[in-house]
Amino acid sequence: MEPGKNKIEEQDFVKCAERLIRREHLERGDWRILLEGRTQSRQQWLAGQASALRDRIYGKRIFIRGLIEFTNYCRNDCFYCGIRRSNSQTSRYRLGKEEILSCCEAGYRLGFRTFVLQGGEDPYYTDDRLKEIVRSIRQQYPDCAITLSVGEKDRESYAAYRKAGADRYLLRHETANAAHYAMLHPKEQKLADRIQCLYTLKELGYQTGAGFMVGSPGQTTETLIDDLQFLEELQPEMVGIGPFLPHHGTPFREEKQGSGELTLYLLSLVRLLLPRVLLPATTALGTIDEKGREKGILAGANVVMPNLSPADVRGKYLLYDHKICTGKEAAEGLEALRNSMNALGYEIAADRGDIAPEC
Ligand code: 5AD
Repeated sequence: MEPGKNKIEEQDFVKCAERLIRREHLERGDWRILLEGRTQSRQQWLAGQASALRDRIYGKRIFIRGLIEFTNYCRNDCFYCGIRRSNSQTSRYRLGKEEILSCCEAGYRLGFRTFVLQGGEDPYYTDDRLKEIVRSIRQQYPDCAITLSVGEKDRESYAAYRKAGADRYLLRHETANAAHYAMLHPKEQKLADRIQCLYTLKELGYQTGAGFMVGSPGQTTETLIDDLQFLEELQPEMVGIGPFLPHHGTPFREEKQGSGELTLYLLSLVRLLLPRVLLPATTALGTIDEKGREKGILAGANVVMPNLSPADVRGKYLLYDHKICTGKEAAEGLEALRNSMNALGYEIAADRGDIAPEC
């Protein structure tokens, strides 16, 4: 899928793009034309369309989320991920309730109104412990949104966290193609379980986030079409998309990284597919390209998620090599982030930034 010279005729590309812009359902062949027909100028045009659509819905407002990476213990062994259980080189840590609350306090003062509690699937955090953490945050910060990102759980657990006060849940599907899913995960992890979790979360009234890496080993145009069609069906409120980046302590250490440009293109396609979606310019995108965050916004993203974790653990939540956690990626760098968003004509919103109501 090299951009540049392209075998797909302009009129065919434009026809499919216009159908997407008009919010018509696309068939596999239409998505194939959009994905295979990517050139620099077509990409720029779609980014402009996506960006204008986001502006019509959200105005010039970018939402911020304070990301608290509260444990890097994980019982799973995903082949791509630096905190997989088999990576014995990782120095593991857990944050206690008080430490998490201190992160929230610092974040609240800086202006964050959404806290994202993300961690590996760590059995230390039983439902009782997690509920207690969520309840405490809910009690102290009634005006804030609480987002959980702690992996696959059963319905009862998800329901209990919701009852304790959680509003949103992030669980990337990683790939909607079962054969591809099996290339990325050990056999005890099943795509069907992941998808079931996502529908359960929606049923329980969570604002739900799915998503995938771009350029993960084994990804093809066909698996990307599966991803886009899955997103159309699920209708998630949030979608996380970032380039795959290798980690030296994983079986994918020698695999090549995903493309930043293709990531930007997919952000634009997803914005057009799901106009109101909350779409972050991810840390991985900022890692692969110094201007990745800003380019993500210009491609249609409307969320950034600076790191609110305590400084001494930030370097340990390494999902991939060279993960950034300073400057605009850090909560203390909010001023710099604000300036860079202002320079693009955007401002950082001061509210919790829920999904826009349908109108
Ligand atoms: N490169 C990029 N993204 C990764 N993630 C995990 N490992 C990597 C990697 N090596 C993403 C996964 C996961 C999210 C928390 O981080 O998509 O869902």
